[in-house]
Amino acid sequence: MSWDPTQYLKFAGERLRPAIDLLGRVPLTNPETVVDLGCGAGNLSPLILQRWPRAKLTGVDSSPAMLAKARTDYPQASFVEADIATWRPAQPVDLLYTNAALHWLDGHETLIPGLLECVKPGGWLAIQMPRNFGAPSHTCITDTIEQGPWRAKLEPHLRRAPVAEPGVYWRMLQGRAASLEIWETEYLQVLSGDHPVAEYTKGTWLKQFLDRLEAGPERDAFEADYRRRVGAAYPKEADGRTLFPFRRLFILAQKPA
Ligand SMILES: C[S@@+](CC[C@H](N)C(=O)[O-])C[C@H]1O[C@@H](n2cnc3c(N)ncnc32)[C@H](O)[C@@H]1O
Repeated sequence: MSWDPTQYLKFAGERLRPAIDLLGRVPLTNPETVVDLGCGAGNLSPLILQRWPRAKLTGVDSSPAMLAKARTDYPQASFVEADIATWRPAQPVDLLYTNAALHWLDGHETLIPGLLECVKPGGWLAIQMPRNFGAPSHTCITDTIEQGPWRAKLEPHLRRAPVAEPGVYWRMLQGRAASLEIWETEYLQVLSGDHPVAEYTKGTWLKQFLDRLEAGPERDAFEADYRRRVGAAYPKEADGRTLFPFRRLFILAQKPA
C-alpha cells in the first residue's frame, strides 16, 4: 500500500511511546551497527542515535514516500529501500530493531527466526507489533467490508489475525535464543478531535482498503460507514476526548554468543 507520512504522523506521540518502551529494554551499551527495519519516516532515528551516538544506523523500508521524508529529516542515518521479506544485511548486526512493521508481513514462523539469524552472536532482535486486531477499531473495518457493496473487492485482502498469541512467538524462538522476553502492554491512548480513532486507523490499517476503492462516492461511502461504526464504539468522554485502548506485543531475543 502507499503510505502518507502526514496522516501517519498525526498521532506521532501515541505511536512513539511503544517504540521508546522497546528501545529502553534493549540492554546494549555500545552497538556498532543498528538496523531499524520498517523505519517509515525515520522518526525513531533521533531516539536511536541519542541512545547510541556512535552506532551506524540503517533504516530499511519499502515505501518511497516514507523514505524520502526520512532522508530529508535525518541525514545522519542511511536509508535503504527494500522488502523486509527478502532483505538481509551484508554483515550480521548488533541490533535489529523493528517497531510497528512486521504485522504487515505474513509467514512470521519463518520470517522472525530468519531475522534473528541476521544478528551477531550475542546481539539482539527487538520487535514491537500492534495486537489490537480484535478491538472495535479493527473489527469495525472487517464489518464495514463484509456488509457493504465493496465486499468482493476488499474481502480477499482482509488479514484477520496478522499477529499471533504471545506463546506462538515464544515457541518459535525459545530454542534459538540465549535470552527471550515477551510481553504485552495495553496503552490507554487519549485522543482529541472529531473521529480520532478513524483518523488514527486511516494512517495505517484502514488505508490499505481505502486505497483499493475508487476515489469519490465509493471511497467516501466506505469511510462514512466505518466512521459511523467506530464512532459508536468509542464515544467521547465528558471533556470531549476519546479513550482508545491499544494493545501491543513486544519481543526481545538475544542470539547465543
Ligand atoms: C506503521 S509504519 C511504522 C514506521 C516506524 N517503524 C515507526 O514506528 O514509526 C510501518 C512501516 O513498515 C513499512 N513496511 C511494511 N511492509 C513492509 C515490507 N514488506 N518491507 C519493508 N517495509 C515495510 C511501511 O512502508 C511503513 O513505513
